[in-house]
Amino acid sequence: MSDYDFIEEMTKRRDRAERIIEECLPREEGFAKTVIEAMNYSVRVGGKRLRPILMQECYRLFSGRGDEFVVEDELRYYMAAIECIHSYSLVHDDLPAMDNDMLRRGMPTTHAKYGEAIAILAGDALLNYAMELTTRAVDGCADDDIKRLAYAQRLLFDRAGIYGMIGGQTADVEAEKSGASGGGELLSYIHRNKTGALIMAAMMVGAILGGASEKQQDIVVSIAQNIGLAFQIRDDILDVEGDETTLGKPIGSDAKNEKLTYVVCYGMDRAKEDVKKLTDEAHELLDELPGNKTFLHALFTELTTRDK
Ligand code: IPE
Ligand code: IPE
Ligand code: MG
Ligand code: MG
Ligand code: MG
Repeated sequence: MSDYDFIEEMTKRRDRAERIIEECLPREEGFAKTVIEAMNYSVRVGGKRLRPILMQECYRLFSGRGDEFVVEDELRYYMAAIECIHSYSLVHDDLPAMDNDMLRRGMPTTHAKYGEAIAILAGDALLNYAMELTTRAVDGCADDDIKRLAYAQRLLFDRAGIYGMIGGQTADVEAEKSGASGGGELLSYIHRNKTGALIMAAMMVGAILGGASEKQQDIVVSIAQNIGLAFQIRDDILDVEGDETTLGKPIGSDAKNEKLTYVVCYGMDRAKEDVKKLTDEAHELLDELPGNKTFLHALFTELTTRDK
């Protein structure tokens, strides 16, 4: 696959995801203008757009429809919605009451720019807006598709909430200062939920809307579990040995907050080995799925060595 230009393929997909997200953002007008500006700032400010990209690639595997330029209507709203949810999770994660960070995606965090009250509201508003977007996906779709969309919607919000991201964030905050004594089981819960859950939702919504069978959905879940955990382990590694300018967020935030991280629990060497092991397994599982998987294989490899 030596002639495969991953950077070019990734750029095409990121640009397309950004166009879709931009088209879905609310207009900055009226008496609520400030909160809308803060919402849009939080989303527009950048990022890898990993979750919408994963969603579209999984959709493509099973539906055989869409390419790097064309995205089916039903999917567009979900791609924008998951990025709104992810961005809200970052806005709240950076608040003084949580990780208390001032830099995100290379720019001032939302609370640093707009103040805490507006940042809290902007996070709330993004979550609410994500729900609005997913209900718009139903407009004009055939009766037969409504069940599938309802299932995708339920999965997305279930995994964003107490059975996923919010559950993980709660345990993450409560585990502060526990050090390695917090233990591997708690760490696994934190990582699989605060980060793994939304990555799984991204891939599963794509698979469901794309028409994956139950057996195929089970394989997608297993892949997403591996990729989600590997992604957060790499995030923990980068918090120690990353570069702030490249990463766009502060190095040492976890140490400052005495977080229970993979590096604290198992050490740096094991952290790196496990990222590799989990990703290798994800590659093997991916081979069991249909469709053109070249981009996903390359993306998984890139995620293990990413520096941002
Ligand atoms: C950061 O997510 C928070 C984690 C779940 C580790 P990303 O690394 O995907 O952040 P952006 O969207 O690229 O900024
Ligand atoms: C946060 O994990 C994950 C979510 C926002 C749900 P981190 O606190 O490690 O994320 P970063 O490092 O600030 O992006
Ligand atoms: Mg955090
Ligand atoms: Mg943080
Ligand atoms: Mg982190």
